[in-house]
Amino acid sequence: MNIVILGVPGAGKGTQAKMLSERLKIPHISTGDIFRNAIKEGTELGKTAADHIEQGKLVPDDVTFGIVKGRIGEKDCKNGFLLDGFPRTMIQAEMLDSLLGETGRKVDIALNIDVPDAEVIDRISGRLVCPSCGANYHKKSNPPLEGGICRECSARVLQRKDDFYETVVKRIETYHLQTKPLISHYSDKGVIVTVNGTGDITGIHDRIMSEVRGHTR
Ligand code: AP5
Repeated sequence: MNIVILGVPGAGKGTQAKMLSERLKIPHISTGDIFRNAIKEGTELGKTAADHIEQGKLVPDDVTFGIVKGRIGEKDCKNGFLLDGFPRTMIQAEMLDSLLGETGRKVDIALNIDVPDAEVIDRISGRLVCPSCGANYHKKSNPPLEGGICRECSARVLQRKDDFYETVVKRIETYHLQTKPLISHYSDKGVIVTVNGTGDITGIHDRIMSEVRGHTR
């Protein structure tokens, strides 16, 4: 099954994608994670990505598509994949449709995780991440140990550079302008599934699973 996950920054795409990927046994591909790893490694891709990400802008379509094309061409994606954060523009959606079409495949489900802007601003401007093991915290609702120490691996947690308030607002604006129109694109194809993304994480996962099952029956 080929699934794409849509949603405003902070909607819980990454959180839910990890759970869904384990449950459905298909690889979780996050373009945001790919870019963050490239930034950490200091590659050319990382330099290009950082210039855009830190300003709350999207990485150019051709760069992003090239990465996704390579990744979904790998063996482990033969029986399906879960794309988290791609596509994010109409051009990316069209490029993906046409790439999948070449091998008789398509997007089976476009999962839209729906969360109000006010809630995601609180979620991501309070987010802290462990640069070593990737564990996620929140300043108020799920703090790390005293002094900003990761509970999993004892590294010092950090705020993502694109999680500062002004950048978060810009990312949300970018989402409404460039990504939200994809809901209509996938709705026209009859594959959109919208799930309420507020409330507890397990409850949201259960709602998603029930929609996925219903959609594949
Ligand atoms: P990316 O990493 O994809 O960022 P994003 O879409 O802005 O999403 P986030 O990672 O902030 O949030 P999420 O929806 O995954 O939520 P999460 O589960 O982490 O992309 C980063 C940047 O890369 C982009 O801005 C862009 O520049 C570039 N990029 C990526 N893809 C691109 C593309 N296709 N084209 C061009 N550029 C691209 O949860 C957020 C927080 O909320 C966490 O702390 C989590 O613990 C918490 N949380 C989750 N669920 C709940 C809940 N139910 N209740 C309370 N808290 C919750």
